[in-house]
Amino acid sequence: MKYIIANWKANKNTDEARDWVLTFNKLLDKDIDLKEKLEENGLKVIICPAFHLISSVREGIRIFSNLVLGAQDISVFDAGSYTGEIPASTLSNMVKYVILGHSERRSLFNESNDVIQKKTAQVLKSGLVPVLCVRGTEDTVPPGVEFIAYEPPHAIGTGNNESLDNVLAMKKNLNLSPSTHFLYGGSVNEKNITFYKSSEIEGFLVGTSSKDPHLFYKLCLQV
Ligand code: PGA
Repeated sequence: MKYIIANWKANKNTDEARDWVLTFNKLLDKDIDLKEKLEENGLKVIICPAFHLISSVREGIRIFSNLVLGAQDISVFDAGSYTGEIPASTLSNMVKYVILGHSERRSLFNESNDVIQKKTAQVLKSGLVPVLCVRGTEDTVPPGVEFIAYEPPHAIGTGNNESLDNVLAMKKNLNLSPSTHFLYGGSVNEKNITFYKSSEIEGFLVGTSSKDPHLFYKLCLQV
């Protein structure tokens, strides 16, 4: 099974999200091979919109067991009096996956490994699946994490995707358990995604190229 995760980040209003979904549905409708891949456990597509869009994307997107939604972050708190927060338990009927520890969270919002560990526990407690982003060996992997996305900050949003050799070297250094799913993220686009054809890399976390449904669809075809 290969995985491709769309990280829309803080982009799109409800109209733009609806247009993305309509276009992506149309592309899927025409493509029997991709539909088969989604139905037969060849590919899992995980779309991670901003919180305010999750509900409408969920209602609009074509239903496949391997086309699911995710969140881009989660509260460190459980449900309760925490104004402005989105606890994992309140999202558990809407999404399946939660991205944690993205380098933008770590650098812009000072998220420490300790905070990320607490968030991981909340996600697991709610029956959701954490996808932990790591920048390198300095980022610790909390217990229970089965999906790791290696995202070197210099490669994010810059067009300077990391080489396959360096990604595989980092995978080795991270010393992950054999059952961990290892993904790569950082300037993945339709021109470079084929460089990463390797049984060692199970999928991709995609930012910029996921904002356009046509580009994202092309990536889905090539994973
Ligand atoms: P990018 O973003 O594809 O725009 O580099 C990846 C990410 O930040 O997850």
